[in-house]
Amino acid sequence: MYDRKDAFYKKAKAEGYKSRAAYKLLELNKKHALFRSGDNVLDVGCAPGGWVQVILNLKKCHVVGVDLIEVEGLMDPRFTFIHGDITTQEIIDQVLEVCPKYDCVVSDAAPNTSGSKLLDHVNSVELVRLIFYFAKKCLKKGGSFTCKLFEGEDRAELVKEMKKDFTFSKMLRPEATRKASFEMYMVFKGFKGNNEE
Ligand SMILES: C[S@@+](CC[C@H](N)C(=O)[O-])C[C@H]1O[C@@H](n2cnc3c(N)ncnc32)[C@H](O)[C@@H]1O
Repeated sequence: MYDRKDAFYKKAKAEGYKSRAAYKLLELNKKHALFRSGDNVLDVGCAPGGWVQVILNLKKCHVVGVDLIEVEGLMDPRFTFIHGDITTQEIIDQVLEVCPKYDCVVSDAAPNTSGSKLLDHVNSVELVRLIFYFAKKCLKKGGSFTCKLFEGEDRAELVKEMKKDFTFSKMLRPEATRKASFEMYMVFKGFKGNNEE
């Protein structure tokens, strides 16, 4: 069992972040400078909205967030929320309607955990693949893709594939990650832009 109300949870409450996950993105950004002012950012699996808060506070970005569940109480003229499943065409169309090209795609989306590490890994790989496939369609040349993965044996093969489309890649496990969690984050920068018409 983990302590749900650990130090990062308490810090998030005190500092007004909607999730402890905010600190993971802050660390990823500190290490890899993910956002620049004016960027259009797609945040997949954005609820309850910690990452959205981080991005809006850090730089003057515009954020489109997608989630299966509603984001409550996050009103900002630079934030658009789309309620639904990123793996469906209907939601993909809505994301592209709001903004056809993005500078950054970030994804903290994860399948519901089952208790089986293997099953969770397999489901996570499948979800990352789908999001990555879409990211390649909507990223601008030079853009970045950052996502969460539940660790497992298919990671190496997946990363090998994904790396081909970027000039830089890095795997890391932010400090705010719970000790018992087998999640890690992958940062890809410098999209080679082979989706330009
Ligand atoms: C760990 S939470 C994200 C936390 C968020 N980054 C924050 O800072 O508040 C993962 C989210 O991914 C969402 N999610 C999982 N699969 C999804 C999918 N196929 N489409 C959209 N959202 C999804 C879940 O509903 C959940 O809210």
